Amino acid sequence: TATVNLYWHVISQDTTLEGGNIPDSMIADQIAVLNQDYAPSGLQFVLKETIRTTNWYWFNEVGPNTDAQTQMKQQVCSCLVELEGGVADFNVYTVGFTDSEYIGLLGYSTFPADYAGNPMDDGSVILFSSLPGGSTANFNEGKTLTHEAGHWVGLYHTFQGGCTGVGDMVDDTPPEASPASGCPTGRDTCTSPGLDPINNYMDYSDDSCMTQFTPGQSARMADQLRTYRGIDI
Ligand code: ARG
Ligand code: ZN
Ligand code: CA
Repeated sequence: TATVNLYWHVISQDTTLEGGNIPDSMIADQIAVLNQDYAPSGLQFVLKETIRTTNWYWFNEVGPNTDAQTQMKQQVCSCLVELEGGVADFNVYTVGFTDSEYIGLLGYSTFPADYAGNPMDDGSVILFSSLPGGSTANFNEGKTLTHEAGHWVGLYHTFQGGCTGVGDMVDDTPPEASPASGCPTGRDTCTSPGLDPINNYMDYSDDSCMTQFTPGQSARMADQLRTYRGIDI
């Protein structure tokens, strides 16, 4: 097993809960979910530091590939890269994604192989109301961070590549034509053997539907973490 240090960046637009200023207890509950979900894979996360920043622009506008994102990560995270954080440390940013362009976005992440080219970009940006007890219906049991951390350890979506080709590069997740939503029974979008892996953390199902990583995914994350982050599970 291995332990990963977690740096939690609370980005809020003001000092209220609705404005993203989540209490420490919500962060603790989220980390408990994360650790429960990763325990079978031999990975544990330990909170090293919580950094709180009020910034209206970042909270609302920090979509993928935006100036807001580059600015936020450089300003909030440069200290970590230089002084304490690094390739083996997990940076999580909770934000609002309130701009109409980003409504419905739950989060996004970097992959282990991305670190070398852009160390400052490393980590996951997630919707603050997706934490356990948050206000986002069907997505408020903390599975968004489990999913985004899945990318951070090198996993692709179960529907990657559709029904053909190497898909998610994992053998024991049956291929899937498209993302699942809700929690469908008997979904089977590819002719190859196996029902769609709708209960997998790397699909798009509701939080209540997400219950597992497969042994193949655990093996891939161990390999990716060893190769790119120097972490030995
Ligand atoms: N759509 C997001 C992504 O591609 C996250 C999906 C999270 N799903 C959930 N049930 N919380 O990274
Ligand atoms: Zn994803
Ligand atoms: Ca697969």
